[in-house]
Amino acid sequence: MKTSISVIGAGYVGLVIAACLAKLGNEVTLIDIDELKVNSIRNGVSPIYEEGLDELLRKVNMQVTTDYEKTLTSKIIMLCLGTPSDEGGINLNDIAEASTTLAGILKRRQDYCVITIKSTIAPGTTEGLIIPALEKSGKKAGKDFGVCMCPEFLREGKAIHDFMNPARIIVGEHDRTSGDIFCQLYEHFKASIMRTSLKTAEMIKLASNAFLATKISYINEIGNMCKQLGIDAYDVAKGLGSDDRIGNKFLNAGVGFGGSCLPKDLRMLIAKAKEINYQPRMLEEVLRLNDEQALRMLNLLRKHVQLKGAIIGLLGLAFKSGTDDVRDSRAIGIVEALLREGATVKAYDPLATKNFSRIFPQIEYVTVEQVLNSDAILILTECEEFNELDYKGKLVIDGRRIAKAREAGIYEGICW
Ligand SMILES: NC(=O)c1ccc[n+]([C@@H]2O[C@H](COP(=O)([O-])OP(=O)(O)OC[C@H]3O[C@@H](n4cnc5c(N)ncnc54)[C@H](O)[C@@H]3O)[C@@H](O)[C@H]2O)c1
Repeated sequence: MKTSISVIGAGYVGLVIAACLAKLGNEVTLIDIDELKVNSIRNGVSPIYEEGLDELLRKVNMQVTTDYEKTLTSKIIMLCLGTPSDEGGINLNDIAEASTTLAGILKRRQDYCVITIKSTIAPGTTEGLIIPALEKSGKKAGKDFGVCMCPEFLREGKAIHDFMNPARIIVGEHDRTSGDIFCQLYEHFKASIMRTSLKTAEMIKLASNAFLATKISYINEIGNMCKQLGIDAYDVAKGLGSDDRIGNKFLNAGVGFGGSCLPKDLRMLIAKAKEINYQPRMLEEVLRLNDEQALRMLNLLRKHVQLKGAIIGLLGLAFKSGTDDVRDSRAIGIVEALLREGATVKAYDPLATKNFSRIFPQIEYVTVEQVLNSDAILILTECEEFNELDYKGKLVIDGRRIAKAREAGIYEGICW
């Protein structure tokens, strides 16, 4: 069914969802409080890098604005606000603020609409925070407006493909009518829809990402042992992954996981566990192993060079290849440690230099060839172009299994 939709939050998720829903023929309004972002999108220029997004933005017709009033006529309103988390807990300020603004709109609406949360939030957040904020309008959830929680599983770098071809659709519903109306939006997608409660949907998203993170820390732990035992962790992963109860995905041992989802969602789940007085021992260890994994690159490096005064070249600054997103990137902790120990850092990334330079304006951003002229090279993302370089005679510490890098004069793989 084609309908009128407002998407609130024009970040990595909201912008892609809005553009895709517009492409599918819906009448879409995209709302963000960041005027620069709004103006850029209006001019057909994506403020983030995402494969195929600039092209899609040029093709689709949607309204982009800072004005929440435009939600007054939308049948479905999707919340795609950031929900960052750190050791201090989960920051729900943007979700709370957007819900309060929407309550002001709901107060003046006479007709029914469904408000759907796409942001990743801990179990109980829709019922405990969002619905109470919306009901400050004087309107009642389940009677005057509907509420759903539909977690988003897209991957940055493949976001358009993933949104258009979801593996599964999870719809948490406050009540049957909310779910019936929201599910119509997805009825032509091939994937099956699982309808459930709001907090089950919230938990499915966190449990999914915590599982993926666990798989990575698991193979890294095996890989760390393999390195010491003279075993190639990738051979082990191949043998392991051919058991279909285990599966061969997310078994690439390396420098660990980063990005705006896995570390954050794990922290969110850990914080939720503690809130209910449950000690999430395994989840905490997954995170700790991941933090230590990045620093193992430095231990390998120290075996070969004195860091003080050395020029260290980094290949890859984003949290993975194919994105400009540097949130929780493995490179952040590595650069901090290198600078602390008196090294000079030269870095290259095909997409993420601008975002990384906001965190570290003091390091040098250079061409890929200039990185090769460093005293040692650390490979931190699995970018294809890193497989085309000439590493002969260089000292390379590889965190991502770049085949060509094995030709280096001195080569150390992190888990092989
Ligand atoms: N990035 C991913 O790959 C991904 C994948 C699945 C789920 N998620 C989840 O989706 C949510 C959004 O993630 P993201 O990466 O798109 O975040 P983001 O930080 O890129 O985007 C959030 C946007 O919301 C805007 N915003 C902030 N306050 C606002 C307000 N009051 N009203 C309107 N707009 C406001 C910001 O300006 C920003 O553009 C998070 O909960 C995240 O965990 C992200």
